[in-house]
Amino acid sequence: MKFFLDTADIKEVKEAASWGILDGVTTNPSHIAKSGKHFKDVVCEIAAIVPGPISAEVTATDVDGMLEQAHEYAAWGSNIVIKIPLILDGLKAVKKLSEEGIKTNVTLCFSSTQALLAAKAGATYISPFVGRLDDIGTEGMEVIREIRAIYDNYDYSTQILTASARSPLHIRDAAIAGSDVVTMPFETFTKLVKHPLTDIGLAKFLEDWKKVPQDKQPESGPTVK
Ligand code: E4P
Repeated sequence: MKFFLDTADIKEVKEAASWGILDGVTTNPSHIAKSGKHFKDVVCEIAAIVPGPISAEVTATDVDGMLEQAHEYAAWGSNIVIKIPLILDGLKAVKKLSEEGIKTNVTLCFSSTQALLAAKAGATYISPFVGRLDDIGTEGMEVIREIRAIYDNYDYSTQILTASARSPLHIRDAAIAGSDVVTMPFETFTKLVKHPLTDIGLAKFLEDWKKVPQDKQPESGPTVK
């Protein structure tokens, strides 16, 4: 499963990229606003740090406006993916962009039937928002399972990008459901590595290691053949 970071914070991107397991980044207008920087500057800075797919979201809501923005963003770098909302004009734009070979990430997906439409339009990624569904008392992960079954039934190549994932449980369940990608906040990414038993176990091993004679073995000492 690929790991994307959901942020427009350059410090977070640099830190996560240094771990060697970051595959891409998703941004959205809210993240860009929080960064306090110009949209193009942030996206290009991220695209220069992470070679994988970087999603940049259109803000136009009509097909012509979306296509104009998509063409502009796509020219910023070969790894830019155009993020498009799951509305009718968005689907029309996705269809056109897929014919032109421009990669798209269809966002704000909340049902498996919406995801089916995105795949039919030729989306590269579909982003179902699991956390926001959980927020309203609907099990977000069920939508991921449904989309996996539908895409497998018809061999759609659209990749499932589980979005709005906010906890290690979301990451685990997305992986079990066969999601191709998961995008998560930096804080969630850091939580994945942590387990109290790992810390306790390491502390004990290091403590015991102090009891092992540390002086250098003579040259003639035992060796493994
Ligand atoms: C994904 O592309 C979205 O930017 C993001 O995952 C939304 O997450 P949120 O629901 O926690 O804001």
